[in-house]
Amino acid sequence: YANVLSMKDLSAEEVMAFIREAQQFKAGKQIELTRPVYAANLFFENSTRTHTSFEMAERKLGLQVVDFNPSTSSVNKGESMGDTVKTLQAIGVDVVAIRDKHNEYYNELVNDRHIHLSIANGGDGSGEHPSQSLLDMMTIYEEFGFFEGLKVAIVGDLSHSRVARSNMEVLNKLGAQVYFGGPKKWFDERFEAYGTWLPVDELVERMDVMMFLRVQHERLDASENQDFTADKYNAQYGLTPEREARMQEHAIIMHPAPVNRDVEIADSLVECDRSRIFQQMANGVFIRMAIMTSMLRYQGLVEED
Ligand code: CP
Repeated sequence: YANVLSMKDLSAEEVMAFIREAQQFKAGKQIELTRPVYAANLFFENSTRTHTSFEMAERKLGLQVVDFNPSTSSVNKGESMGDTVKTLQAIGVDVVAIRDKHNEYYNELVNDRHIHLSIANGGDGSGEHPSQSLLDMMTIYEEFGFFEGLKVAIVGDLSHSRVARSNMEVLNKLGAQVYFGGPKKWFDERFEAYGTWLPVDELVERMDVMMFLRVQHERLDASENQDFTADKYNAQYGLTPEREARMQEHAIIMHPAPVNRDVEIADSLVECDRSRIFQQMANGVFIRMAIMTSMLRYQGLVEED
C-alpha cells in the first residue's frame, strides 16, 4: 500500500493478509531492505503504545528511526504539517507514522502532489485508528481462529472513539456480530447501522469478546467532566468482578489502553486470565511491522525472494 490510513480502504481479505504477515513476524520472519530506509514518527497527540510500538516495529525491520518531537520542532513556529512532512521527505525519510487531533488530517498530505513518502495513520482525532484495529483483529483471531458469527461488544465512550469506528467497520466486514454498550448518550445514529446497543449486564453473559473503551476526559466538555464519577460509571457500565463472573467461560476482555483502572475495568481484572490487554500491545509491534512492510513493498524497498 502507498499509505495505510483507514479500515474503510481494506477488504476482509486484505485484513487477513495483514494478520497473517504479522503472525509470521511474530514467529521470527525477517525482511531484507534494498537500501538503507528511514522512518519518522510524528505524534502531535499524546501516545505511549502506538508511538513506541511503531518505533519498535521500524527498528525490528532494520529501519533507521529519525527522532521528531513536535514540542521542540518548528511546528511551534507555525510550520504546517504538510511542510513538516515535506521537510522530512527532503532530508531522506521514506515512511512516517502520524497521529493528529484533526479527523482525516491525512487527506491534505496524500492530495499534495509534492508528497511521495508513505504515511501510516497512528490515529486521527475521533476518526480512525487502523493500526489499533488490525492488532485487535490479530488478537481476536489468535484467540478464536475465525470471525464469522463471533459476538463482540464495544463498550464505553463510543462518540469520541476512533477505535470504535475502525473496529465496528472491520468486524462487520469480517462477519462478526457487533454490539454496543455504555452510556446511551454516546450511542448515536452513526453506530446503529453496525450493531445493537444492550445493557452491559446483558452483554457480559452473551458476548465472546468484551471490548472496553477509555473514557476520554480530554475530549469531554467541562460540564460532562464535572458530572462524571468513577464509581458511578464503573457500577453502571464498567466491568466489575461480579459481571466478570457471569461471562462465558471462553470469553475474553479487551481494551486499547490506557485503561482508567476502576472506571472501565476493575483494577483487579486488568491482568486477569481473561484479559488480553497486554497481548494486544505485544501484537501491536508485529501488526505495525506488517503495515510498514506493506508500504516499503509499494516503494520497492523490500528484497523479495
Ligand atoms: N491504544 C493507544 O492508541 O494507546 P496510545 O494512545 O498510548 O498510543
